[in-house]
Amino acid sequence: MRASILCWFLTLSAFTKASLPPPCDSEIYCSGSVLDQVQRAKLFPDDKHFVDMRLNSAPDLVLSSFHNLSAEFLNATVPPARLLEFLDQYFEEPGTELEPWTPPDWTDQPEFLTGIKDDKLREWAGQIHSLWKSLGRKIRSDVKDHPELYSLIYTPHPVVVPGGRFRELYYWDSYWVINGLLVSGMTSTARGMIQNFLHLVGRYGLIPNGGRVYYERRSQPPFLTLMVESFFKATNDTEFLRSALPVLKEEYEFWMQNRSVTLDVGGAEHRLNRFHVEAGLPRPESYTDDLELAEGLSEGLREQLWAELKAGAESGWDFSSRWYIDAEGHNDGALKDTRTSQILPVDLNALMCRTERTLASFCRLLGEDESAAAYEQAAARRVEAVEALLWDPERGAWFDYSLLSKSKHLEFYASNLAPVWAECFSLPEMGERAMQYLKESGALKFPNGVPTSLRESGQQWDYPNAWPPLQHMLIEGFSGLPSDETQQLALDLAQRWIRTNWLAYTKYDAMFEKYDVNGDGKPGGGGEYDVQLGFGWTNGVALQLLRRYGADLTSAGGRAGSRLLLPLVSTAALMLR
Ligand SMILES: *[C@@H]1O[C@H](CO)[C@@H](O)[C@H](O)[C@H]1NC(C)=O
Ligand SMILES: *[C@@H]1O[C@H](CO)[C@@H](O)[C@H](O)[C@H]1NC(C)=O
Ligand SMILES: *[C@@H]1O[C@H](CO)[C@@H](O)[C@H](O)[C@H]1NC(C)=O
Ligand SMILES: *[C@@H]1O[C@H](CO)[C@@H](O)[C@H](O)[C@H]1NC(C)=O
Repeated sequence: MRASILCWFLTLSAFTKASLPPPCDSEIYCSGSVLDQVQRAKLFPDDKHFVDMRLNSAPDLVLSSFHNLSAEFLNATVPPARLLEFLDQYFEEPGTELEPWTPPDWTDQPEFLTGIKDDKLREWAGQIHSLWKSLGRKIRSDVKDHPELYSLIYTPHPVVVPGGRFRELYYWDSYWVINGLLVSGMTSTARGMIQNFLHLVGRYGLIPNGGRVYYERRSQPPFLTLMVESFFKATNDTEFLRSALPVLKEEYEFWMQNRSVTLDVGGAEHRLNRFHVEAGLPRPESYTDDLELAEGLSEGLREQLWAELKAGAESGWDFSSRWYIDAEGHNDGALKDTRTSQILPVDLNALMCRTERTLASFCRLLGEDESAAAYEQAAARRVEAVEALLWDPERGAWFDYSLLSKSKHLEFYASNLAPVWAECFSLPEMGERAMQYLKESGALKFPNGVPTSLRESGQQWDYPNAWPPLQHMLIEGFSGLPSDETQQLALDLAQRWIRTNWLAYTKYDAMFEKYDVNGDGKPGGGGEYDVQLGFGWTNGVALQLLRRYGADLTSAGGRAGSRLLLPLVSTAALMLR
């Protein structure tokens, strides 16, 4: 007994010593006492403020000056007034490194508008299309010449940003932004955004979560290959495909080498992906949240929690009950029980499956038959692994798998349907079974969209929030199945979502990053920051749906002949918080 306890202590202390690298190498933006003291002093309402400030002097000079300032207070905490003075002397307000940019390929009358039958929706679609002009940003060349003065990562082409506090490029958001730009006929802006991501793979070996150094050791759901697929479908640009393909392969290898686990199930080996970030310390942009959450934990557990929170951010679902594993090993608990890296997520593996198929088709198209065969084989193995570990034949859906309890998490999450979207299943009836599962889950009873989950955790990737990428995934998934009923469901979900977006737009004159499934046009809430306006992926998904279903959608909500007419919920006057 004694020996095993001793052993446990030794293991723990070994773990503590082998500490993880910081989120990035900057001793100002990612680690060190300037960051620590400024964030702890809570000088700004959002922790992202400080880490987005530009330096006006070399980092060494700023560090030396802070050292001297600290010494005045015997190395204890510098008072807030002196910190503000220090910031005033060495930093500039956030956002100045990006200048507004009007995409030159934006035109007044994009073709897709003519396919939208409802007058109000057509006019609104024109307004969403106009929003691309307000979300365009160009990075000043000084960022390229003096990267040491910025947390912003230089990328060579202008970008369309999500909006609000998300003032730089984001990885997975850009998939729906690019799809929306392509609906708007803005192929050169879309190409530039993809080229930025190709550039980032070359520079970091992964695509960072977003365009800031403090995101550089974590990624986001890997949509780059599908971005290129969307672009290729819209342009048939084979030369672009040829130049991108080696980089797509490189990104794929990163996910397979650095973000996968191999499991033995009944004698067969299966390899699946997970989110997993090897970086310690609190997230610089949410520093005090992470500090507070870790209060009272031992050093080793603190570091583990901070890495798991970063893995949660890498999943795009930051945060969600989906990533909780409590002390008993159940999918329950609170934010401090986040164990993202110990879960094999359905949506990530569905995305990897679709990526493998897409890479195979790219290779075929370019005459790389051997590579094509290898990716086809990888996709076939993926389907086997997904069905061995994630598919539940009784319930008729896929579920996240916990490496800790070696079992599935059986709660409803919209991501449980991702393999339908990715067409990552072996038997046609699985798609129909999944539709039955969705119906029986209770997630279809809300007038304003499908909720992320049915658990009200207070986190933003849970009930009652509905997110554009998830609606899009469900609609595209069911519209791709052969039966009338699934097609009808896809149209009904598109109608609900468009009406929700439209109602909110008429009330607030804005597009939001997420909505409340009960609000009849109410933006979503919860989580670490206030709901943001803008908003890149919301606009992209709305434009895609308006193009695809423009002949059927109405601003009034109902649709003649629909078997699933929307309940008409009264429009309560809602105030933004
Ligand atoms: C910090 O103090 C040292 C010793 O007094 C001085 O040489 C140095 O210039 C100071 N650094 C800054 C940035 O003021
Ligand atoms: C403050 O820290 C520096 C090194 O970081 C050390 O040399 C100095 O003695 C410390 N001063 C006090 C008063 O503790
Ligand atoms: C992936 O893992 C390898 C081996 O552990 C490591 O050398 C490499 O730096 C990692 N790549 C990235 C981009 O983190
Ligand atoms: C691309 O090529 C395919 C096959 O040749 C054709 O069907 C399609 O219409 C083309 N698309 C565009 C956008 O030119």
